[in-house]
Amino acid sequence: MNVTYRSFSCSQTDVQVIYLVENNLSMSKEDINKNIEYAKNKNLFTGKIGQTYTFTREVNETIQNVVLVGLGKEEDLNLDTIRKATAKGIRKAKELKATTVFIKLPKVDTLEVEEIIKNTAVAAHLAGYTFNKYKTDAKKENALTVSIGRCGIKEATPEIAAAVEEANEIAKGIILARDLVNEPANVMYPETLAEEVVKAGKENGFEVEVHGTEKIKELKMEAFYSVAKGSSKEPKLIVMRYFGNPEQKGEILGLVGKGLTFDTGGYSLKPSPSMIDMKSDMGGAASVIGAMTAIANRKLKINVVAVVAACENAISGDAYKPGDIIGSMAGKTIEIRNTDAEGRLTLVDAVNYIIEKENASEVIDLATLTGAALVALGETTTAVVTNNDRFYGELKDASAYTGEKFWQLPSFEEYAELVKSDVADLNNSPGRNAGTITAGLFIGEFVQGKPWLHLDIAGTAWSEKKTDLTIKGGTGAPVYTLYELVKRKSK
Ligand code: BES
Ligand code: ZN
Ligand code: ZN
Repeated sequence: MNVTYRSFSCSQTDVQVIYLVENNLSMSKEDINKNIEYAKNKNLFTGKIGQTYTFTREVNETIQNVVLVGLGKEEDLNLDTIRKATAKGIRKAKELKATTVFIKLPKVDTLEVEEIIKNTAVAAHLAGYTFNKYKTDAKKENALTVSIGRCGIKEATPEIAAAVEEANEIAKGIILARDLVNEPANVMYPETLAEEVVKAGKENGFEVEVHGTEKIKELKMEAFYSVAKGSSKEPKLIVMRYFGNPEQKGEILGLVGKGLTFDTGGYSLKPSPSMIDMKSDMGGAASVIGAMTAIANRKLKINVVAVVAACENAISGDAYKPGDIIGSMAGKTIEIRNTDAEGRLTLVDAVNYIIEKENASEVIDLATLTGAALVALGETTTAVVTNNDRFYGELKDASAYTGEKFWQLPSFEEYAELVKSDVADLNNSPGRNAGTITAGLFIGEFVQGKPWLHLDIAGTAWSEKKTDLTIKGGTGAPVYTLYELVKRKSK
């Protein structure tokens, strides 16, 4: 999809989407006004949030569909409403088989025009997203071209042009994450994932280094390798580096993404209904790659290194087994109580690597780590475990802007006790109780006191059903918030 800013009078598109606030239901065009008046009198459209009303009009002897979208009261307007309205408008336009859409924004005083335009553009990309490449017929679907205009602003000011450009690049990162998750595991496995990252690095301006089994063994990443060794697909340690602030060499944000390109559960095999969507178990990796893409693309003044320990959790004569006691790059020993609690094993070696070898001074790890996160918070909210309130505050501030939701879980000492083992330093599966917390705290054992956020995106990285801004499948969460957090840090 392509999104641009255009003059308000440019309305020669298949569909015109008009946002209206409840307080002011009128437009400058008389024929449109008549329809608004009609819909209002019949109580079909009053401007309430999410309401839509469609009619046709004639422009230059062709028919155009007009979709009115309600924004609610001007004084209550926020960016979430804007994003929701955009989803409604774009979805309607697609139903009407549009290839060109013009979105008309109202003049309001409660939000900055650049913010409205930026979030309209991001939401348009997300609502227009499809993953139909493997459907023989659907491939012929036309791409949507979207332009946005606001009453009273003919030409894009430099600020508006910049907002549209930023939105396009943020959306590119989110959509890359979605695509990587939606690709099936026979297509997207460690090697091909690494190839995608190399490509993204070249296109967007970050450095990529990829290591195979030999280097993984040399680094003594036994926890990572134990998970990987049951699969015939070679594991890959993927390292991405972006140094946008060379003057502050000591400050490096480390991002670590869980990169299980498929999780069968291993010998602690998953039942079929739990296994079916496990191509999404590299959602953390996908989000980290998407975020790096946007961060580097926007040339943010900050240093960010990202690491993905990509592998497949499969079964074979070589696979690790329950009861095994393994080592790790950090030297700690781990009792394997459940081979399906594999994510944390790959993550602790990646976390140790990013601190020891890449000198990360702060760490965020993202992982589709526990079904318990889904049970506790559902699909809307990412679970957070942290050792640093200031860092968590930064995340919350960024998320208040992007609309993605996060919630911190407690990390009391008693929970940390549960990850200890009778026969080794740690155990990888203390059981069902407090599963998201113990998984997080297991990783916390390896962060060496660095400010750290653990984001369990098992619920949020994948959507079981179509929502306003997503299809069924990868959501690209929380790329937008990661980007926003990094942008705020870079100032
Ligand atoms: N990848 C799964 C977690 C998951 C579940 C992600 C549902 C997305 C949706 C993870 O590797 C896993 O299997 N975790 C186990 C941990 C348990 C054995 C301690 C789980 O959640 O059951
Ligand atoms: Zn698992
Ligand atoms: Zn997993």
